[in-house]
Amino acid sequence: MSLFARLYRYGFKPVAFRLDPEFVHDHILAFGKILGAHRFSRAAVQKLFVFSSPMLEQDILGIHFSNPVGLAAGFDKNAELTDILPAVGFGFAEVGSVTGEPCAGNPKQRLWRLPKSQALVVNYGLKNDGAGAIARRLAGRVFGIPLGISIAKTNSPDTVPTKAGIADYVKAYRSFVGIGSYTTINISCPNAFGGQPFTEPASLDALLAEIDGIPTRKPVFVKLSPDLAEPQLEALIAVLNRHTVHGIVCTNLTNHRANLNIKDAVVPAVGGLSGKVVEPLANRLIAYMYRCTQGKYVIVGCGGVFTAADAYKKIRLGASLIQMITGMVYQGPQVIGEINQGLVKLLRVDGFSNVSEAIGADNKL
Ligand SMILES: Cc1cc2nc3c(=O)[nH]c(=O)nc-3n(C[C@H](O)[C@H](O)[C@H](O)COP(=O)(O)O)c2cc1C
Repeated sequence: MSLFARLYRYGFKPVAFRLDPEFVHDHILAFGKILGAHRFSRAAVQKLFVFSSPMLEQDILGIHFSNPVGLAAGFDKNAELTDILPAVGFGFAEVGSVTGEPCAGNPKQRLWRLPKSQALVVNYGLKNDGAGAIARRLAGRVFGIPLGISIAKTNSPDTVPTKAGIADYVKAYRSFVGIGSYTTINISCPNAFGGQPFTEPASLDALLAEIDGIPTRKPVFVKLSPDLAEPQLEALIAVLNRHTVHGIVCTNLTNHRANLNIKDAVVPAVGGLSGKVVEPLANRLIAYMYRCTQGKYVIVGCGGVFTAADAYKKIRLGASLIQMITGMVYQGPQVIGEINQGLVKLLRVDGFSNVSEAIGADNKL
């Protein structure tokens, strides 16, 4: 274990894990912003964390990824860390979810740790500064890594009618047409007003029809819930096939409490679960989507990645890229470089010369 990993595990974490998780998250964001603002701190962080190898580089949908490990949506909700994230070693990052209107989110407490389960319970309710403010923050900027913009529907009773919900997504989508490398349409937030109405095929069809009509060079991804049953997934795939969608993010948080990976005695009644609780569900969905869509969509695997072996499993099931939050919270930011380094070793053992060769290796079409 590296010195930094030891410091995180035995120094920072025991203290931080006694504090309120949202308080810690807010302070990490503030610290990350300061580190990102200065050339010397960026260079120091980069020296400490970045691992690069040509074996990890891929060009996907016209975007160059220096490695397949990305930051998942929800950690940098207001796009405040874009200067420091490349130095932490990420190959890409997704900011947001950003909604049409600013949103204060659900009442506190809205973030919990489940240490025995190696998971978090998230009930933020799409807290963010809103599309207008965040687009202004990012406009005209050049980013060190590909930046995805995750958009969602404002968490409010006003956006519950389908037409109003679509208008809200479209407002956010339009705000970022020229910003970042790709857009993810998050239809799977487990903790917002009115549930997940755009997992209904007819509503998703109507939403994507509006999105199709807005010209942009950026590929579109759709982020799915791990809690969908196969008939629902089949119906959603039929909808995706009718529109200009390039990729699928598998997956968001799970809402289900009947999960064998929950090891903690007490689980908050509200919120979606991440980490090791969602991992098997995410892997099931990656495998299912890759097989059912015959590799047509770029799959971003997300949920419970803590190690290189976890990331590699998702890639071998069909993911081209992976994302994470919870693994980084439990293990520290050095884990991004460790995963990349471990991936290179695993690829070598299996005789692959590039990560792209391993995609779907365990899930032959
Ligand atoms: C604190 C937190 C906030 C999140 N907020 C969002 C969000 O705004 N939009 C979204 O699409 N997913 C959100 N997620 C879900 C993550 O992007 C990811 O899908 C999920 O946490 C599983 O990955 P992990 O196990 O690596 O954390 C959030 C997750 C966490 C932990």
